[in-house]
Amino acid sequence: MSDEPAPSPSVHPVAIPGCRLAVHTAGRGLPLLLLHGFPLDHSMWVAQAPLSDHVRLIAPDMRGFGGSAGAGLESIEQLADDAVALLDALHIAGPAVVCGLSMGGYVAQHVATRHPDRVAALVLVDTKLEADTPEARQARSDLSGKVGRIGQTILAEAMIPRLLAQSPVEPEARPRRDAIETRLRQTIVAQRVPTIQAALAALGSRPDMTAAMARCAAPTLLVVGAEDVITPPSCLQAAATIMPRASLLIVPGAGHMTPLEQPDVFNEAVLEFLRQQVPQRPHPA
Ligand code: MLT
Repeated sequence: MSDEPAPSPSVHPVAIPGCRLAVHTAGRGLPLLLLHGFPLDHSMWVAQAPLSDHVRLIAPDMRGFGGSAGAGLESIEQLADDAVALLDALHIAGPAVVCGLSMGGYVAQHVATRHPDRVAALVLVDTKLEADTPEARQARSDLSGKVGRIGQTILAEAMIPRLLAQSPVEPEARPRRDAIETRLRQTIVAQRVPTIQAALAALGSRPDMTAAMARCAAPTLLVVGAEDVITPPSCLQAAATIMPRASLLIVPGAGHMTPLEQPDVFNEAVLEFLRQQVPQRPHPA
């Protein structure tokens, strides 16, 4: 896909206006930007490492999360502009594939609407197009208050039971599932309280994207875990009916963290989608 030398897998700082992002990169060729969910960081994409045999993975910790310095998270739109500033800083002028999970999916939608020329294709995972209901906004505000009083542990307690598929797993699969849960807990409690609170406010005030995404020209893969209780399959089934170039995959045995829970299914679906939809195809392993 490219004559550039393959950079070694690493996390390195990248300066963009207003902050310094910690960015994991691996592989070369077609850029695949991976935007994490809330309240996580780039490490949620650990199981997508094999994709770096085919594409150039770029997985930032978004403003204020993980190893990214600087507070000032104001809106989902701002995070979308940060993502494009990151592409600029990495001298990626051509369109990239933009993949986001949940909050990262909200950000990816704004990248597509604010910077359509920078998007070769979208992968929207365990996310939705609609804004929060008033009740959901109030629940975020209540949670933000609790996090301020009690700390990040209350957020981990609130979220962990809802992140992963709850159907019983085979005994041999149990250790892997427990390890995923432990890793998610560690990631959540490592996030900074001001970032968590700012992100909750930004999530609560994000606009409804339904009309905008009905006009989205980018080929789009929609992926959702069959057991996702945060953004259930009905959300992406609705998106698939209105987005002109969208296809939908519902993944059995996954909840809200499909790329972590069912990485082989997810990775193969992404590669197949890119082979079919993106002219600058992923190069063979
Ligand atoms: C996420 O996983 O990013 C969040 O659950 C998104 C949300 O709360 O809307």
